Amino acid sequence: MKISVIGTGYVGLVTGTCLAETGNEVICVDIDKTKVDKMRNGEVPIYEPHLDVLFERNIKANRLKFTTSLAEGLAHGEIIFLALPTPEDEDGSADLSYVLSVSEEIGKKINNYKVIVDKSTVPVGTAEKVRAIIAENASCEFDVVSNPEFLREGFAVDDFMKPERIVVGSSSERATTLMKKLYSPFVRSGNPIIVMDEKSAELTKYASNSFLATKITFMNEIANYCERVGADVDMVRAGMGTDSRIGRRFLFPGIGYGGSCFPKDVKALKKAGKDADYDFKILKSVIEINSAQKTILLPKIDAYFNDDLKGKTIAVWGLAFKPETDDIREAPSIAIMDALLEKGAILQVFDPEAMPNISKRFGDKLTYSESMYSALEEADALLICTEWSIFRTPDYNKLKELLRNPVIFDGRNLYNINDMETEGFTYISIGRKAVNL
Ligand code: UDX
Repeated sequence: MKISVIGTGYVGLVTGTCLAETGNEVICVDIDKTKVDKMRNGEVPIYEPHLDVLFERNIKANRLKFTTSLAEGLAHGEIIFLALPTPEDEDGSADLSYVLSVSEEIGKKINNYKVIVDKSTVPVGTAEKVRAIIAENASCEFDVVSNPEFLREGFAVDDFMKPERIVVGSSSERATTLMKKLYSPFVRSGNPIIVMDEKSAELTKYASNSFLATKITFMNEIANYCERVGADVDMVRAGMGTDSRIGRRFLFPGIGYGGSCFPKDVKALKKAGKDADYDFKILKSVIEINSAQKTILLPKIDAYFNDDLKGKTIAVWGLAFKPETDDIREAPSIAIMDALLEKGAILQVFDPEAMPNISKRFGDKLTYSESMYSALEEADALLICTEWSIFRTPDYNKLKELLRNPVIFDGRNLYNINDMETEGFTYISIGRKAVNL
């Protein structure tokens, strides 16, 4: 099929590339000429495992093309994906200006039947707005469909190629048939394509992300309570997770959720609720708790150093908001590093992928280390903010040799408490007893 994707951010790029992989002819449109030139030369503008392989293969096969011309993009596709940014407005709602201005152009430019697909995360009612704007200008038939993405950064290619479900919000038989045809190669395993009305599809995305953010936040509260009463959150989690109604996933406590989706979507749903005269009390709490959770280790670090962090060197492992990405948006590491710098600490940082992004945010306020071990040299303690796999099994002897004091503040519960105790580390984690303190 002929597909156009408008916007080559994270979602657009993954969508376009993966749709080309199943044999579709895809044109991706972006206004950024430098970016388009780079992509034409096979350069992937983001770090995402496996994307480079698919990217190269499909460009070579001539199935994946890039242009800055919206007119060319709109002429090409029978299905047109809108993967445009919906940044957070000052009041927390999603800013739809990109989506709506492109919709206007679509109305003016299309001259045969097209399915316009909202892929961006947009508030309930957006498909209706997009439809109205296109209808004002269009002289041909078209349909608007909502098709939210559920891609996790770091696993986006896998999530796209083998989705657990595909949600299609459509009130047109013709559009639904085309969407089913497009997605049929991705659901051979029998996973469902769930067709519903557009509003329910739009809400499904917000509800899913807000639920997951709430699930994590609930566990963070349980972890904080565990510390007060001497329970072990790892045990509680294991006990809870085996109940199939609860499930094992997304029960890992830590220093809070971050990223480009959860924080933005929770806030947007809360704001959308308010606009509809509904007060999402649970989401208000989730936002507050998560914000506090990001610096939950700070009082403990402070106490360890007798409230005097001035001139203390802290090694920081993990800066990205989660492993397998270079994304630092809303990363808990930022909140805690800001607070530590404020108190006069010196930070020696390392992350396998996020160093360039974090250096743009912090400049010369941080010392950037070449490796996880060099970050430890002459440091008074180690702080872990992201659970990259390489941090999971470090050489403990090397750690003890390099650190001035064998002290670890672990925001992601990477190590077994008993191991830490035997190895002689002072180890402070989340929702578990502190050892050798
Ligand atoms: C999320 C959704 O999972 C995806 O479906 C949606 O489309 C986009 O948003 P992503 O932001 O890439 O994906 O990351 P995800 O793996 O879901 O993690 C989100 C945050 O929650 C991370 O900061 C992570 O560290 C945190 N998290 C996750 C926990 O703190 N505990 C957990 O148990 C799981």
